[in-house]
Amino acid sequence: MIFVFFILLCFSHLGALTSVRSEKEIAYYMKLLSTKTEEANNFLLPTDNRRYFGNSVPVENTAKDFGEFDFIIVGAGSSGSVILNRLAQIAEWNILMLEAGGEEDDFSDIPGTMFYTHLSDKNWGYNTTSQTTSCLGMNHNQCVYPRGRVIGGSGTINALMYVRGNKNDFDNWQELGNPGWSYDNLLPYFKKSEHYEIEDGDKQFHSTTGLWNVTYFTPPEPVTQYFLEANRELGFKYVDYNGEDQMGYSRLQMNLNRGKRASGGRTFIDPVRNFENIQVVTNALVTKILINENKTTYGVNFLKDGQLYKASVKNEVVISAGAVNTPQLLMLSGIGPAEHLKEYNISIVQDLPVGKHLKDHPVFVGLNFRTNYTYKEPHTIKLIRDYLEGKGLLTYCANTQGIKFINTVCPSGSVPDIEYIFIPPPSMSPLDAKNYNWRPEIAEMRAKTKNKNSDFLLLIVLLHPKSIGEITLKSMDPLDFVNINTNYFSDEKDEDVDTIYRAVLHALTMLNTNAFRQLNATLSFDMPFCNEHEKYSRDYWHCSIRHLSTTLYHTSGTAKMGPDPTNSVVNYELKVHGVEKLRVADCSIIPSSTSGHTNAPAFVIGEKLADFLKQRYQ
Ligand SMILES: Cc1cc2nc3c(=O)[nH]c(=O)nc-3n(C[C@H](O)[C@H](O)[C@H](O)COP(=O)(O)OP(=O)(O)OC[C@H]3O[C@@H](n4cnc5c(N)ncnc54)[C@H](O)[C@@H]3O)c2cc1C
Ligand SMILES: *[C@@H]1O[C@H](CO)[C@@H](O)[C@H](O)[C@H]1NC(C)=O
Ligand SMILES: *[C@@H]1O[C@H](CO)[C@@H](O)[C@H](O)[C@H]1NC(C)=O
Ligand SMILES: *[C@@H]1O[C@H](CO)[C@@H](O)[C@H](O)[C@H]1NC(C)=O
Ligand SMILES: *[C@@H]1O[C@H](CO)[C@@H](O)[C@H](O)[C@H]1NC(C)=O
Ligand SMILES: *[C@@H]1O[C@H](CO)[C@@H](O)[C@H](O)[C@H]1NC(C)=O
Ligand SMILES: *[C@@H]1O[C@H](CO)[C@@H](O)[C@H](O)[C@H]1NC(C)=O
Repeated sequence: MIFVFFILLCFSHLGALTSVRSEKEIAYYMKLLSTKTEEANNFLLPTDNRRYFGNSVPVENTAKDFGEFDFIIVGAGSSGSVILNRLAQIAEWNILMLEAGGEEDDFSDIPGTMFYTHLSDKNWGYNTTSQTTSCLGMNHNQCVYPRGRVIGGSGTINALMYVRGNKNDFDNWQELGNPGWSYDNLLPYFKKSEHYEIEDGDKQFHSTTGLWNVTYFTPPEPVTQYFLEANRELGFKYVDYNGEDQMGYSRLQMNLNRGKRASGGRTFIDPVRNFENIQVVTNALVTKILINENKTTYGVNFLKDGQLYKASVKNEVVISAGAVNTPQLLMLSGIGPAEHLKEYNISIVQDLPVGKHLKDHPVFVGLNFRTNYTYKEPHTIKLIRDYLEGKGLLTYCANTQGIKFINTVCPSGSVPDIEYIFIPPPSMSPLDAKNYNWRPEIAEMRAKTKNKNSDFLLLIVLLHPKSIGEITLKSMDPLDFVNINTNYFSDEKDEDVDTIYRAVLHALTMLNTNAFRQLNATLSFDMPFCNEHEKYSRDYWHCSIRHLSTTLYHTSGTAKMGPDPTNSVVNYELKVHGVEKLRVADCSIIPSSTSGHTNAPAFVIGEKLADFLKQRYQ
């Protein structure tokens, strides 16, 4: 009795403390949201690296000695963060991690601020080059191309959807001459990182002992129910798309820690931060990989606060700078296509097809549906209170709630060619025009015809594009950006556009379900630049797709893995062909497209690399 009373007393006491604390916390978050969203509104993205690193790179012989390390990891993104965590466990290894960006913060921890962090110094700020077959709805035909420049890398500014890909994709990786990369080989690595908290998944494909949390959003969002129901009516299967069978529909599995962003930084770097054998240096731009005349790597140069440093390595340098910056750094260091490096007088260390074979997932973002449901946005105080309890709108990145995989050619196949992402109301970023770089006419059309509180979106993702893009240097100066030519929809037979067109037709059939009729769902679509075509004809949709498609941010393949140095850059142990003590571990190495997103593969690549290094040096 007395015991119970005592416990009650403790609880009520704690309760009082919690509510005082949360008043303060709520005020803090109110201020944070208003200042940071205002900053994003006014933010001008940089056009090169000079804003953060000065106007020139000091000459090499002024480089200060930064010491010697067993391993140097370049880039604290998704892959780099898991590598650091795993290597840090070996106490006798001394590890340096260099990251061009700064720290994560309370604002970037809020998933709902994603579109704002794209307009901040946490984004490198790239655009694609001017395109001829895609990005036609954007100013100068340039799609924006966000990449994380921060601890956690692109995983700190991404949409947190946990989508591994299809078994067959990884079996392809192995068949291309990469032993150890089949699905069966990789499944233990997917599981190694994972802390799965979802009840209705295929248990044997998941683990609850890893660090990276996977959950559903809470509470379930009401309109999503209609999406799920519509697909059930059409005869699709409700699946754990990261489990036994990918083909079908589901709620989205998300990487959240009680509603906060689960980036590589928060998940894998924070737990080892104060280990004595590691050093993480932020705001440090690696400008060159140092390789001697015997093609052996001995360190890196990096720029920080206007000073050039030289860090030396005993064992190996690992490049995890992401699929845009890794090819840049390799090329600046003499590893790349000889013809291209000669244009800039870069002395050639190894002639390899770096930057070639860029693969990405283009996404058609235009398919908009009106409903008679109206989302009522709660007061910000309520949103913050919910967020602090791990739920509600601020825990959603772009309000992506449902997912579906189909094959538009062979409906009974086991590998999809299309992914749909369902976004219920509210379905538009307040910074829409800037976030996508829309031409004024399109921005105006969207502002006029879209009602974010009543409309839902079906994003259509092309999973296995035929088109291939390329990363090339703009100059030999590490302070310049590279050229990102995504080349979407450039395949000769227009198969890429046509696959998305078939997916549009399929999406429209969903309108005929009872579920969507209950929402009175109708297509609400207008495309000012395509009116020379008959509305909703094949040509009209093709035109619309070329105007309203952009990146799903899944850059890969720019330092592709494979056995043959004429068409790949690293071997199956991620060693750069022909160069000693140098490995690449990030999405650059992905050899062929996957039917999923790229963050989970980025962690798997990091896990594999950490094991390779342990096997070799421990
Ligand atoms: C907006 C957006 C949304 C996305 N949504 C999803 C999603 O929902 N689900 C999903 O699975 N995937 C998503 N992705 C993709 C996924 O986040 C990336 O594929 C993944 O993070 C890439 O990991 P990485 O290790 O290859 O590179 P990154 O995580 O980009 O890491 C590279 C790191 O290297 C640093 N760096 C680069 N150059 C240098 C240099 N010279 N010196 C020092 N440091 C350097 C960078 O600053 C960065 O921190 C999204 C990506 C973006 C951008
Ligand atoms: C990207 O495009 C936007 C809008 O046109 C422009 O303001 C910005 O300077 C461009 N950035 C780069 C790096 O080209
Ligand atoms: C992941 O989820 C578990 C269980 O809910 C929780 O205890 C843990 O703190 C979460 N991880 C992180 C890094 O927040
Ligand atoms: C390169 O290799 C040669 C022959 O093995 C050796 O004599 C020389 O010292 C090496 N140079 C360096 C910088 O290691
Ligand atoms: C490369 O070197 C040649 C000869 O020295 C010079 O003429 C040319 O301008 C250089 N090119 C670049 C891009 O620096
Ligand atoms: C359903 O939508 C149509 C077309 O937008 C509209 O005319 C009609 O009034 C709507 N019905 C209801 C019940 O909302
Ligand atoms: C929406 O439309 C459907 C079908 O016409 C109708 O049954 C339903 O009551 C409407 N809902 C609202 C909120 O208007």
